[in-house]
Amino acid sequence: MKDLFPKDFFWGGAVAANQFEGAYLEDGKGESTQDHVSAAAFNKTRQVYENIEKDVYFPAHDGIDFYHNYKEDIKLFAEMGFKMFRFSIAWSRIFPTGVEDTPNEAGLKFYDNVFAELKKYNMEPLVTISHYESPFYLTKKYNGWYGREVINHFSRYCEVLFERYKNDVKYWITFNEINCLTLDIKAFQGGSILYNEKGDAVQPKEIPEYMRYQALHHQFVTSAKVVKLAHEINSNFKVGCMLAYICQYPLTCKPEDMMLSNEAMQLRNYLCGDVHVRGYYPSFAKAYYKENDINIKVEDGDEQILKDGTVDFCAFSYYQSICVSTDPNEERIQGNILDGIKNPYVESSDWGWQIDPVGLRWSAHQLYDRYQVPLIIAENGLGANDILEEDRTIKDPYRIDYLRSHIKEIGKAISEGVDILGYTWWGPIDIVSLGTGEMKKRYGFIYVDRDNEGKGTLKRYKKQSFEWYKKVIASNGNDLD
Ligand code: BG6
Repeated sequence: MKDLFPKDFFWGGAVAANQFEGAYLEDGKGESTQDHVSAAAFNKTRQVYENIEKDVYFPAHDGIDFYHNYKEDIKLFAEMGFKMFRFSIAWSRIFPTGVEDTPNEAGLKFYDNVFAELKKYNMEPLVTISHYESPFYLTKKYNGWYGREVINHFSRYCEVLFERYKNDVKYWITFNEINCLTLDIKAFQGGSILYNEKGDAVQPKEIPEYMRYQALHHQFVTSAKVVKLAHEINSNFKVGCMLAYICQYPLTCKPEDMMLSNEAMQLRNYLCGDVHVRGYYPSFAKAYYKENDINIKVEDGDEQILKDGTVDFCAFSYYQSICVSTDPNEERIQGNILDGIKNPYVESSDWGWQIDPVGLRWSAHQLYDRYQVPLIIAENGLGANDILEEDRTIKDPYRIDYLRSHIKEIGKAISEGVDILGYTWWGPIDIVSLGTGEMKKRYGFIYVDRDNEGKGTLKRYKKQSFEWYKKVIASNGNDLD
């Protein structure tokens, strides 16, 4: 099938500030929450530190040094023909502690320069305002998003961005994968919450559930407030939400498995999607909160704010599908954000994530049927253990296979009526893994010479997939050979 993709389809790539910028405290930047997270070994959990310890390696401090290489890196993206580049702004570069009255000019200037570079190559920016980080000071002062005060600080940060970049950016995303706050492991990454009820600094899993949902409520209110603000500042702005689409099939057609899958899809995906797109909490969320004694504080006026600030599009990440089952003895597998039951019909990546391109088409249908707003596939990708050969080449046919199979399914979804604006591959250049902090887990079309301990020249090398993606973009998705 040919010509499935619209002419103005946004092909591109996506990254996040704390996984690639580096330049940790440069030009007035403050400490960010992710600057406090250590690296971990293969599939192990990263630790959160209250203080920056000298003998601990924090990979966000250097990233891949995009801060000093942005011109060269964007040039490489342009060479592949990118039409869109998704990246996040580091809040602590603009407001080092989050509470200042005046923004840090040097931080704003850095992003001026990035936008100018993108404009040079006609690349549309897709800006994530919050990608798993906040100024660390807000964690110390308010326990991150658990504190309602953060709503105003974030709104001020957004106002500064919207005013400053009103002629540079059209597409904005408020919170990356906001629904991750429904998961215990993400209390710090998603909500910047470090302290338990007693005020002790603890690892994310020890934060009580109600605190996560309170923080989530604050993010919902903030997101809705800034969507409204964005439209007031520039009526051409398009502001979207972003979900980690956690695709959970029932392992069998046993009615109880079907119901389990339904409940899991509601709680993990649609709670957040519904609030963002429809503007109110769904009834299943209220029932879940009641059943689990989650008493969150909702202030007068919050419901109206949610109604008035619904989003223009829905962005989502999709890496894999998992299964759910009522049988506790089924084999479990690793996953992005959430692990699950093994699906006997699909293969897995080096990191154990199941590879299911049809699941991407299915997910796009589910979201579009439910919300009827344009979609952006803001993340999709394969983390693999690439080898830099002696002749400085990198052969990654497995990445090409992954891409090909997923792009085919996107084309089919579009031909079946799903409105998809763009596809930004996760990590078009190798970056630090969010989950483990490893460099060894590579997603890029561009290899970066850096290892798990932070050693290496940081030199960039094109992989085999570089030319392949370039060809796909040039043919607007027609040449997938
Ligand atoms: C997404 C995040 O969940 O998964 C990214 O938005 C992250 O920040 C990506 O990098 C891939 O996960 P990982 O753990 O392989 O880096």
